[in-house]
Amino acid sequence: MTLSDYSGFKLTSALTNSLSVSWQSPSNIALVKYWGKTGRQIPLNPSLSLTLSKALTETRATAYPRETEGSVEPDFWFEGKQNVAFGERIRSFLESITDIFPWLVQVSLKIETHNTFPHSAGIASSASAFSALALCLCSLDAELNGIILNEIEFRQKASYVARLGSGSACRSVFPGFTIWGSARALPGSSNFIAIPANEVHPVFKTLRDTILIVNEKEKPVTSSEGHNRMTGHPYAEARIKQAGKNIAELLDALKNGDKQTFIRIVENEAFTLHALMMTSDDGFMLMNPETVRIINRIQEIRKETGLDICFTLDAGPNVHLLYFEDQIEQVNKLIIEDLLKNNKQNLRIDDLYGNGPLKIG
Ligand code: DP6
Repeated sequence: MTLSDYSGFKLTSALTNSLSVSWQSPSNIALVKYWGKTGRQIPLNPSLSLTLSKALTETRATAYPRETEGSVEPDFWFEGKQNVAFGERIRSFLESITDIFPWLVQVSLKIETHNTFPHSAGIASSASAFSALALCLCSLDAELNGIILNEIEFRQKASYVARLGSGSACRSVFPGFTIWGSARALPGSSNFIAIPANEVHPVFKTLRDTILIVNEKEKPVTSSEGHNRMTGHPYAEARIKQAGKNIAELLDALKNGDKQTFIRIVENEAFTLHALMMTSDDGFMLMNPETVRIINRIQEIRKETGLDICFTLDAGPNVHLLYFEDQIEQVNKLIIEDLLKNNKQNLRIDDLYGNGPLKIG
């Protein structure tokens, strides 16, 4: 698939009435991590994630008639307020996709968005934000240009567009376990869009993810800067190989209901991500002492009790504790009494396996 497959059309006649669409889209947590990219958002390695259920972005996009064509200048509202910094990222994203949606210069676009999770929790999610926006743009495109796509084609196009906004966003367009990036283990996988991993044992659909909030502050190094530091990284080649192998093993584990392999790969990937950060030329560390304490406790407790728990991290200090529905009570006790004992506000976000985005208007 190439970009030209998705090049779109201008409106043949000016818009007369405003047109609104709304989507709700979830965040996702990567189990095999996307880290490093080239060209127009092409990942260095394939990644595999779990689409979540509760951490959602709701976005409404409204196209208004506009008298003269001009540059793309979206009116961007986040949580009821105009947000200049994120608005700027949205503007440059929209400018970069006028080949796909040429009508963006023929309308005035208002984008209103809010998250269902606390934005103070340090888990601001570009995945939910850009997937919700991409879905809105594809819906507007369908209505404005009368383009008829079936459900699968529509989601694929939305995944393609979401990727151009934020790599991880392309995976949120699909439910459950999703793969982005060309992986030998999965025929049909692609660097341009995510695809769902369909062969999943029912036990993995009972997966829970509790985010233990260690630090709510903004990260000192953004994901985008972090990706850049993979360019010329001394371990890049080995990392690409390792990701391919981890995807293959994780796909087998998902298929066979093999929790122990799942735990091993997921933790290996979290450690690898942070090791790559620390060993890049301009090395940096996003884990806090509390992150390290919690990780150590999760590993110790697993050994002591045999609970099927493990951790993963994204590009930040907060710990994602993964476990299964049948052990929810024991794990909850553990979270309160041990893992969050130094967190006076008991800050956590309880999430789980999710069914993907929903059109809400
Ligand atoms: C560590 O998707 O946020 O969470 O493409 O620059 O927007 P951009 O990066 P982003 O990177 C996510 C990195 C990660 C791993 C992952 O989600 O796979």
